[in-house]
Amino acid sequence: MKREYSKQTHSKQPQVVNVTFRKLDFGLDDTVPRYWVRDNPFITHFYHAYSVMLVDGEKFLIDSVRNFKDDIDDQDTLDEISAFCRQEAHHTHQHNLLNAIIEERGVNVPFYVKIVKRALGIGRLFGKKQQLAVTCALEHLTACNSHEGFSNSNVHEGMEKRMSQLWLWHQMEEIEHKAVCFDLYNRVGGSYLTRVFFFTLVNLFFWPLVFLLTFHMLWADKQIGNIRQYWPGISYLFSPRKGCLARIIPDVLSYYKPSFHPWDVNDAEFIEQWVNANGDMVLN
Ligand SMILES: [Fe+2]
Ligand SMILES: [Fe+2]
Repeated sequence: MKREYSKQTHSKQPQVVNVTFRKLDFGLDDTVPRYWVRDNPFITHFYHAYSVMLVDGEKFLIDSVRNFKDDIDDQDTLDEISAFCRQEAHHTHQHNLLNAIIEERGVNVPFYVKIVKRALGIGRLFGKKQQLAVTCALEHLTACNSHEGFSNSNVHEGMEKRMSQLWLWHQMEEIEHKAVCFDLYNRVGGSYLTRVFFFTLVNLFFWPLVFLLTFHMLWADKQIGNIRQYWPGISYLFSPRKGCLARIIPDVLSYYKPSFHPWDVNDAEFIEQWVNANGDMVLN
């Protein structure tokens, strides 16, 4: 039976933001350099770790949102959920193309995918609302990272052009749909305590896993002893001024505010910026 959820909270999503499915082709092939960020294995494998995590990660996001599809009557919300799912599915498709390239080069992608699947399997043991809380947490981390992609020029500096285009497109769409799951969570009556509990849990799993996979990839690639890569890599991630992880800490922690909403940071301008610069790449 259909359970109707009333609109309990109003989304702060700016009127100009319209979650849109876009099909792209970045022309990824084996001419992508082996270490495609600044010729640095550490930074490159850091991104590869993200890329392999997305395979089951984005499936989890889609499933946790689809769990509520039959409970929602409002057509606008259903359209937004559908666009969200199509965006995430296409992200996975594009990252699978990258994953196939790195697998050819010796990265044991199925092994890493299996590890992530096991970790997410823990999330799947919880109820629907709790799974959605996990998704909201992951979407928030992704939105913070994506904001960096546009606001910190250091992120894409020295990145191979096609790879930069792939990540920038993904980052733009993560910004565009950053409130879809959060608004759904509020709408179905998700509580603050559950939201922050699962956010804490997600952070305790997510960050160690990213670095575990990064270092395992470096080890398997016989690059773990390459000392020269570490300082530029640590600076890329953790430098207080330019480090893409260090700089997001305040935004990440803002999730603990009871009044938090993803659009408290209004970065809709980045979507427009991407469309103006790259709109002609869209194939549909
Ligand atoms: Fe995504
Ligand atoms: Fe997302």
